[in-house]
Amino acid sequence: MREGYQPADELIPEKPSLKRLREAAASCHACPLWRTGTQTVFGKGSPRARLMLVGEQPGDREDRAGEPFVGPAGEVLSKALEEAGIDRSEAYVTNVVKHFKWTQGRGKRRLHQRPNTEEIGACRPWLDAELDVVHPEILVCLGATAAKALLGSKVRVTKDRGRFLESDIAPAVSVTVHPSSILRIDEDDERRAAREELVADLAKIADRLNGR
Ligand code: URA
Ligand code: SF4
Repeated sequence: MREGYQPADELIPEKPSLKRLREAAASCHACPLWRTGTQTVFGKGSPRARLMLVGEQPGDREDRAGEPFVGPAGEVLSKALEEAGIDRSEAYVTNVVKHFKWTQGRGKRRLHQRPNTEEIGACRPWLDAELDVVHPEILVCLGATAAKALLGSKVRVTKDRGRFLESDIAPAVSVTVHPSSILRIDEDDERRAAREELVADLAKIADRLNGR
């Protein structure tokens, strides 16, 4: 923990609900990212959600809207979930880091920057509190940042995707690619194939949710 930053766990309410957590997280200053982000982007969904999806950090659009996965990556995610037969509104969607980290690109563009280990650690109490309240049956890490933060550095998205991994975080845990990795693929066929693989991973989650 860096000097001058009040640790997030000191802000966790005694009897946490998602509403109380969201309110508390709004004034979190546990790492430097509160200065660069417009607002804390807390998770969204029901406390009774059986499925939790965890991404990396809010992007430009999420930073403005105050909601996770509402930009281009969110669109890829929503479509893939729908194709896999999962109702996004029944999932709890969140990120390991809750402020947008960026640098100034050309013009007004704000370029996404990966959060570092310190920032991920500083933000962790919020994710742990979300997990405590929601208690998902199935947890899905979207991309390497979430996978590493939640399951440790041995997990490899390419090797471990599409199957259920041992973890005490939730009864069923799995990893898949980050939806924005699909948007970065230039070649049409490759991008289509990557989308299909994401849908295939999510279809396994749908099977598990449906007791198949
Ligand atoms: N990428 C993420 O990891 N999370 C979001 O909420 C949006 C983009
Ligand atoms: Fe707090 Fe997380 Fe925002 Fe850092 S990124 S200020 S730990 S909410």
